[in-house]
Amino acid sequence: MSEQLSPAEKAKFICAKRAMDFVKPGMRLGLGTGSTAAWLVRLLGEEVRNNGLNIITVATSDSTARLADECGITVRSMDDVKWLDLTIDGADEFDPNLYLIKGGGGALLQEKIVATASDQVVIIADASKDVQVLGRFPLPVEVVCFGWETTKGLIEEAISNLDVRGQAVTLRMQDENAFITDEGHLILDLHLERIGNAREMSLILNQIPGVVETGLFLDIADAVVIGHIDGRVEVRDINTGTTEFEHIDVVAQDNMFMDLD
Ligand code: A5P
Repeated sequence: MSEQLSPAEKAKFICAKRAMDFVKPGMRLGLGTGSTAAWLVRLLGEEVRNNGLNIITVATSDSTARLADECGITVRSMDDVKWLDLTIDGADEFDPNLYLIKGGGGALLQEKIVATASDQVVIIADASKDVQVLGRFPLPVEVVCFGWETTKGLIEEAISNLDVRGQAVTLRMQDENAFITDEGHLILDLHLERIGNAREMSLILNQIPGVVETGLFLDIADAVVIGHIDGRVEVRDINTGTTEFEHIDVVAQDNMFMDLD
């Protein structure tokens, strides 16, 4: 089945596979959300089912919790576990500081709570997410439903004074309706094209009443595992300043592809 995976999907798979090296028995593990994190959950499921890997997990979304359950992984609540050894999650963009844009899948609030409560955060992403300056991917901002149009206006006013290239703000939709997050909020996507000062933007947006959280993840990630379409995997560690390369083959015995039928 592996030959049915697109090059982009293989890149996601190999970074998830390399990230498995960070997982140790007995760990309390945060499970990210999105298509890359889904590969990690499937790989973890294999280890749990086939080799009895003992882990305690917290999911960053209802969809990840469902997938983990299908894979045979027990998921506990954040309030039950409270603190984690490691979180492995995807990202929509990362820059040289390992500042991130997250929330393309709408789970940024839980993702930030879980990542912030983790001793170590490892990001898994294909190389298309690697940028010099954040902002090409629209920045998701989670807002409460009450007065959301007023909140949108305050966000528009705030970003008009910041170092950005675009200023359009759109309400995220799902089919004909507004997208609703797991926590019952809305998402506004900020089409900024360039975020010149991510820290300033984060501070200013978080001061606006009605804003619950932004998809800017600053000083949260410790390392990024980058999957390239040619099979190379790169591990950049922001704490040690090191970068390691290796090559991972996608082989037939990676039998989780059978699940994709
Ligand atoms: C989910 O809300 C996001 O933060 C995801 O981590 C991000 O969108 C990456 O998703 P993919 O791995 O599907 O690109």
